[in-house]
Amino acid sequence: MIRVENLHFAYNEQEVLRGIDLTLGEEVLALVGPNGSGKTTLAKHLNGLLKPEKGRVLVDGLDTREHTVAELSRKVGYVFQNPEHMFFEETVFNEVAFGPKNLGLDKREVEERVRWALKAVNLEGFEERAPYSLSGGEKQRLAIACVLAMRPKYLILDEPTTGLDLKAERSVVEVIKFLRKKGHGILLITHDMDLVLELAERVVLLNDGRNVFDGSVEEFFRLNVEEYGLERPELLVLAEKLGAGFVRSAEELVGRVGGDLSVLR
Ligand SMILES: Nc1ncnc2c1ncn2[C@@H]1O[C@H](COP(=O)(O)OP(=O)(O)OP(=O)(O)O)[C@@H](O)[C@H]1O
Ligand SMILES: [Mg+2]
Repeated sequence: MIRVENLHFAYNEQEVLRGIDLTLGEEVLALVGPNGSGKTTLAKHLNGLLKPEKGRVLVDGLDTREHTVAELSRKVGYVFQNPEHMFFEETVFNEVAFGPKNLGLDKREVEERVRWALKAVNLEGFEERAPYSLSGGEKQRLAIACVLAMRPKYLILDEPTTGLDLKAERSVVEVIKFLRKKGHGILLITHDMDLVLELAERVVLLNDGRNVFDGSVEEFFRLNVEEYGLERPELLVLAEKLGAGFVRSAEELVGRVGGDLSVLR
């Protein structure tokens, strides 16, 4: 369990996090909120990249102020919002292998992890390419592969599908579902409310450095999310118009209104 308690943080005396409480267990937790509300700043506290000024962050009981980022990154993988500056190896293979090698794993295990991670994000065949030569969406997936290869218990994904085409987005969604099944805890930062509806089990809404909502997806979408610059999913708008209540998927909606599912195929 990751536990954030009364977290305060300021950049140059400008307070950005103003007393956040949050837990992340074995679940997909969506962290949402307007631009500048503090999502990335909060995420950087979960693997110790930033340390609390007041309050504390515990990762399976370890206080992040007492442990290095290297130690914490065995437990918490963090995929940056803009990963293009985090690559430094000459090939994609070496980039993904870097973390597992540092864990002291033998060559076979490293290779096996690299192949598995690249496959998971649909980057098989890219092993010998230079990371800087990849497209934006490919870099995004490479960044995810680097973290997956470490097999951390918790994953923080900061807008992992922004800028991805549909196929790439679907491969990231599949990775998230797969990891969830395997018992990982995932913090998904996103502005994509369709993704929240599809994947999240709980939602935390930040606004101006404060946690203004923490609850179920159904309760979350009862809020006026537009107030926070977020868009209500089309599917929910339609379900409401049809008087069908809260649904998670088109299939569920069709089932609810007694329609014929074959129209979706
Ligand atoms: N290194 C920094 N130095 C000074 N201020 C910063 C720094 N990083 C972020 N901030 C400020 O802190 C606030 C919160 O930023 P943060 O990146 O956490 O927001 P966010 O919720 O992730 O936004 P977005 O949706 O745009 O990614 C913003 O006002 C931002 O300008
Ligand atoms: Mg951000």
